[in-house]
Amino acid sequence: MHVVNVSLGERSYDIVIGVKLEELGSRMEGLRTGKKAAVVTNPTVNKLYGARVLRNLSSAGFQAMPVEVPDGEQYKTLDWANAVYTALLINTFDRRSPLVALGGGVIGDLTGFAAATYMRGVPFIQIPTTLLAMVDSSVGGKTGVNHPMGKNMIGAFYQPRLVFMDLDTLRTLPKEEFLSGMAEVIKYGVIRDRELFDYLDKNREKVLGLEPGPLAHVIRRCCEIKAEVVSKDEREGGLRAILNFGHTVGHAVETVENYTRRHGEAVAIGMVYASRLALRMGLCDAGLPERVEKLIRDYGLPTDLSVLKRRPSVTELFDAMQVDKKAEGGKVRFVLPKKIGEVVITKEWDEGVLREVLEK
Ligand code: NAD
Ligand code: GLY
Repeated sequence: MHVVNVSLGERSYDIVIGVKLEELGSRMEGLRTGKKAAVVTNPTVNKLYGARVLRNLSSAGFQAMPVEVPDGEQYKTLDWANAVYTALLINTFDRRSPLVALGGGVIGDLTGFAAATYMRGVPFIQIPTTLLAMVDSSVGGKTGVNHPMGKNMIGAFYQPRLVFMDLDTLRTLPKEEFLSGMAEVIKYGVIRDRELFDYLDKNREKVLGLEPGPLAHVIRRCCEIKAEVVSKDEREGGLRAILNFGHTVGHAVETVENYTRRHGEAVAIGMVYASRLALRMGLCDAGLPERVEKLIRDYGLPTDLSVLKRRPSVTELFDAMQVDKKAEGGKVRFVLPKKIGEVVITKEWDEGVLREVLEK
């Protein structure tokens, strides 16, 4: 078992990696929350793990109740947050009652938002069950729901009190979902940790084979990096933006494909194009885009816009990037690699050069 602390003063919390679901109750007892707990999940995850979590919580003295939201990104909405509030109100949950998110990033984001807003904030616990949720979405306090006009447009920064990971839950995760999470893992190597990048390269079969040691090592390292970045810049005033490496073109890919592609796959493509842009701008050497692209391909992820169901025009991709531009109040920021383990955040990129890179 590994414990990584996210250091945020009074709002600091532990990420516990490599525990069994049966240890949840004793961990939660230490948080001194109320005893009435809601486990928010979806039917897929509930069927697999819901009973174990509920049984364990009740043996630890909690009155635990499941709240189900249908499975899918299209249910990460205000309407479904409202359905969670209704379940809590009917069952007289109060300000001390914890909400436990059991599932992937969709459940984590929605439950976190409900926890941030129900009675102006109640204790929130994350039990991520996808690789993407373990290494990214469950840590750092970004919570939210989608609006018909844009993804993640409604939300709050709201830190969990505990992130609790049983790595065995990854054994039931479909392979494509696991690989999607691997894109975010590779991202951490490129932005912050050359050793992690090399480790992923040398230990591909072990990681893909879910060998406990290598898997725990990789997840722990990603959580350490995310914890460090979030501790220094919780609200994305500067440094935290490095976590968006690959996400600028990635978001555009998600938009033009109407959110039918997995997030990690879009980020994988985005990382390749950002690396090529960095090379064209003279920020990195020629070997870097090749290394990034090779590792992504070795992990079974797409590397090129040609895999899209329909190849979008560059103008479409630029238009899709405008949502990011509005959010940033000016020119879109790119996160570009200088070398493996180091990136820069810049608005100083040339539109013509990016067009050429995307057209190639
Ligand atoms: P997801 O939550 O949709 O999960 C993917 C699929 O796997 C679902 O069908 C789910 O039911 C299933 N599943 C989950 N755990 C399982 C398990 N152990 N065994 C079998 N099936 C399982 O997708 P995701 O990739 O985990 O998360 C994507 C979401 O995360 C998006 O909404 C994205 O916006 C959000 N996100 C948030 C942040 C953040 O910082 N808050 C960061 C990245 C992504
Ligand atoms: N997933 C990006 C962030 O948490 O900032």
